[in-house]
Amino acid sequence: MNETPTDLIERRRRECATVMKTDAARAAVALHGTPVLLLDPSIVVRQYTRLRDALPFVRFHYAVKACAHPAVIAALAEEGCDFDVASGEEIGLLDDHGVLDGGDGAERVIHTHPIKKAVEIREALAAGIRTFVVDNETELEKFREHRRAGVRLLVRLAYRSPHAGSDLSSKFGVDADRAAAIVTRADAVGLTVAGFSFHVGSQLDDPARFAAAIHDTAALMTRLEVERGRRFTVLDIGGGFPVAYDRPVAELEEVARAIRPALTSLAEHYEILAEPGRILVAESALLVTSIDGLADRPDGRWFYLDDGLYGSYSNVLTEGVNPLVFAERDLAGATGPRISATLAGPTCDSADVITRGADMPELRIGDLVVSPAMGAYTSVTATRFNGRPFTPVAVLTPVRRPAGAMSRLT
Ligand SMILES: Cc1ncc(COP(=O)(O)O)c(C=O)c1O
Repeated sequence: MNETPTDLIERRRRECATVMKTDAARAAVALHGTPVLLLDPSIVVRQYTRLRDALPFVRFHYAVKACAHPAVIAALAEEGCDFDVASGEEIGLLDDHGVLDGGDGAERVIHTHPIKKAVEIREALAAGIRTFVVDNETELEKFREHRRAGVRLLVRLAYRSPHAGSDLSSKFGVDADRAAAIVTRADAVGLTVAGFSFHVGSQLDDPARFAAAIHDTAALMTRLEVERGRRFTVLDIGGGFPVAYDRPVAELEEVARAIRPALTSLAEHYEILAEPGRILVAESALLVTSIDGLADRPDGRWFYLDDGLYGSYSNVLTEGVNPLVFAERDLAGATGPRISATLAGPTCDSADVITRGADMPELRIGDLVVSPAMGAYTSVTATRFNGRPFTPVAVLTPVRRPAGAMSRLT
């Protein structure tokens, strides 16, 4: 991790400048106006390739919840990536893209929400899905009627990471003793526990924590196998790979280096699954907004953008992300006076503030501002608060045409 925070901001500025200069980006802004999310599926494919290269023995199931856009699903499906769902709607989306078709279609999908309605389980089974996650006996009970359906259950373990962007084990998962009790109960009612899953926390910049969770899970599996004379077949290491929003974080290759030694030997005994979300999609989208209003208040200049915390910047609220925000004129390296400004969203709620103390040039109504790395937990967590429409997503599709030809905008 040699990049400094200044280097990162400069790299992100250059990335935004490169995209905003393209015909496709200009055409998208002309067509949709602002706000608009500019999505480049080739970046999703790039990230998937990096993950696969770094951990070739892991079967990656993209966590659809991070960005459910059809272009993302289509790009990953075509690359052979598998999927992780949390609802019937997500299963329907995969079905629309033919992911569930064919002999092994349903094997490509795992359902990892630890709490499900009975009807959701039935629908997932009807779609062919067989791998599910549980973390309590009540949930286990819901599978009892399906014990002859070839269901394989993973028991979700909790590894608290309060320093993660989202400490998912504060809501789901159990400790080793509770997990052992769930296995006992499953055995008693004739259900198959194939193994264990966990999520170390989303946006966790701590490869050692990830490695420790794998180590502890492997120790539990070995202990139960020895004590009970049984074999497990699956270890699911969840998601969590961090993204450099406003500061450098461990690159995915660095995280992979930390966890590879343990995983390499485990892969000889178990099928290793992962459920990455953010790392695959965050960098694939830029958000383009414009200045709708400005005001001088006792604490300085306020700029009001046409997207905010109840829209695409919902990642600020739900994920603790501090997004970078560049004035379009800064992308071209403009000089001139600077001000420290508050950037606020368009709704009437005082909580709708994207960032304070942003270093901005003097901006006018209608000026564009751009945020990089806006592909994960943005469009999917947006609301229609204040009656505002969802921000459209424009797919920038580079097409193989002679140099100078225009990219296609879909
Ligand atoms: C069960 C589960 N799997 C995978 C993910 C994706 O995690 P990330 O985006 O941190 O990779 C999440 C995120 O909330 C999750 O809840």
